[in-house]
Amino acid sequence: MENQEVNSERFPFGVPFSWYQVAYSDDLAPGELRNLRAFGRELVLFRGEDGVAGLLDAHCPHMGAHLGFGGEVVGSAVECPFHGWRWRADGVCAHIPYAKRIPAEARATSYPVCERFGMIFGWYHPRGEAPLFELPEIPEWGSPGWCSRWQQRAVELATHPQEIAENGPDWRHLEKVHAMQMSEQDFVFEPDGYGYRWYLGGQVSAGESTLQGNNYGVGLSTFRQGGVHDAIVLTTVTPIEVDRLIFQLSMLSRAPEDELAAQFDYHWAFAEPDFRIWEHKIHRTRPLLCEEDGPIARFRGWAAQFY
Ligand code: FES
Ligand SMILES: [Fe+2]
Repeated sequence: MENQEVNSERFPFGVPFSWYQVAYSDDLAPGELRNLRAFGRELVLFRGEDGVAGLLDAHCPHMGAHLGFGGEVVGSAVECPFHGWRWRADGVCAHIPYAKRIPAEARATSYPVCERFGMIFGWYHPRGEAPLFELPEIPEWGSPGWCSRWQQRAVELATHPQEIAENGPDWRHLEKVHAMQMSEQDFVFEPDGYGYRWYLGGQVSAGESTLQGNNYGVGLSTFRQGGVHDAIVLTTVTPIEVDRLIFQLSMLSRAPEDELAAQFDYHWAFAEPDFRIWEHKIHRTRPLLCEEDGPIARFRGWAAQFY
């Protein structure tokens, strides 16, 4: 009998905990404050005059004003536009203009921030737990011979971070969707704590090349491509809602300046055929797999730890 199981809500498991990219470093100057919809919440992202970035729930704990409409950065804190209370990046209330004593429980909901390799990441955990893993270093960033700015492009898609993370281990779609020639020995999937590694030695349409990737949680994956011009491509996803996210590619390369755009277009064009599949598919909790489907079940075991 046909399996009738269909999830009425597309993704019944919420937003997974992870680091999620919320900006590029260059796009957030000291003293800047901006509104951000992420993790199904209203947030404000800001950079203190000391250069440290912060991410807070947008609504002031005092009486609920929105910090992103009229609030401003003062020193290392955000000053609320309603009564002037100031909130630091760690959520602590630093100042009340008219109070002798700051109430001990005066805390805003804050999200840990990690700024690395020209990107700003915010940590989301559904139960507010502190970060459980670290983001990697990207040695190519700032290295001589590599382009100094990320080539970048983003698109909003109606899908969930786990579906995108599953796309790597689901190597059986590479032939059909991405026109890659695959053989049985080509794909290695190695879960390792909150990350996983994969390795691929297939034939890409542009010629013979080697691909190797690392995932860090479900918000960041990196892959390195050896070939004519070495490149590293980062895929970041940032959930807006549980079923809607920003999918973003960022590339560093050793290619000459005038070839960067074409090289990046190639990577974007490679990813693009997935978009329509992702936006319209449902999540099968128990997919109907055949033996040759590869590490899907192992991937699902790995992914289950993020909720
Ligand atoms: S509502 Fe923010 S200071 Fe009063
Ligand atoms: Fe894909």
